Amino acid sequence: MRPSDSNILNGSKSSSIEAAVSALRDDELVAIPTETVYGLAARASSRTAVNKIFKVKGRPSNHPLILHIAKISDLEKWTKDLPNVARTLVDHYWPGPLTIVVQRNEKVCDEITGGRNTVAIRCPDHKITTELLKRLDDAIVAPSANRFGKVSPTTAEHVASDLGDDVKFILDGGECAIGLESTIIDCTTTPPQLLRAGAITVEQIKTECLITVVPASGESRASGMLDKHYAPECKIELFDDRMRAETRLLELRQHGTTSEILDFADDLAQYAHSLYARLRDADERNIEVIIAVKPISAGIGSAINERLQKAANRS
Ligand code: TXA
Ligand code: MG
Repeated sequence: MRPSDSNILNGSKSSSIEAAVSALRDDELVAIPTETVYGLAARASSRTAVNKIFKVKGRPSNHPLILHIAKISDLEKWTKDLPNVARTLVDHYWPGPLTIVVQRNEKVCDEITGGRNTVAIRCPDHKITTELLKRLDDAIVAPSANRFGKVSPTTAEHVASDLGDDVKFILDGGECAIGLESTIIDCTTTPPQLLRAGAITVEQIKTECLITVVPASGESRASGMLDKHYAPECKIELFDDRMRAETRLLELRQHGTTSEILDFADDLAQYAHSLYARLRDADERNIEVIIAVKPISAGIGSAINERLQKAANRS
């Protein structure tokens, strides 16, 4: 066993969840599985614990965190003046991969929001984490469990290789079902704005909830959003079609550059599910260039393209 593996616990065991709850009560950090990506969790009511997240991730302190709750009815504990739009969205999509930004109440400390009067909140859809939240009887804050600027982890092993012993325990819940971070919608503006694309799309929200969500602009856009993020070590080149990607592959290989194609044709769910794992794997094998064939911008394809674009923007 590698030393960094020693803090991985089998999350389906009740005793592992108990150990994680007890660590969180002691203001320690614990990595948790969700349906999107693994999160680095701290107890939301402890400023000491929340501050540790910024230290361990190397994250700027004005970059706000998402609050995670066990059930819809916990929403009122942390927020105020909930607009109808927010209510409709959570009734439709929680538990699930949707984060809403709403007005916070005094229970939410400044460390979580970077001093903003709004808070991002979501109710994750993962058995192990729901059980942990219920037993903890508090909310947790959880950014993705990677070092700042790196791709998010979708397995317990990814977390271990990024954070090692800087996290007390890693609750292993297997591979994350979706593989991309949650959709974020700012419900404090009219109309609501999309801050980050994810598995739940604006098209779907329009059809299912009759709510129009517009692209982010103004202050919302600036809230901790960077154009360069989700960056692996390897260079990423984007192509619209397979043929051009293959021509580029030959060209690079002729120049002795180690490169490979990333393409899942029409299987968008598989693309989302495997994207981060493939980028991490490419780094481990010292691949210099990933030639990514862009998926269609429908469904989760928009979120995949957003992440690919940000990964390609590095240097
Ligand atoms: O799927 C997810 O959301 C994952 C899992 C672990 O739940 N978490 C996650 O957290 O992606 P993180 O910290 O990597 O991304 C949080 C983003 C910030 O970058 C920021 O853009 C936005 O949420 N955010 C948080 N609070 C906000 C606020 N008050 N106003 C606007 N945006 C906010
Ligand atoms: Mg992140």
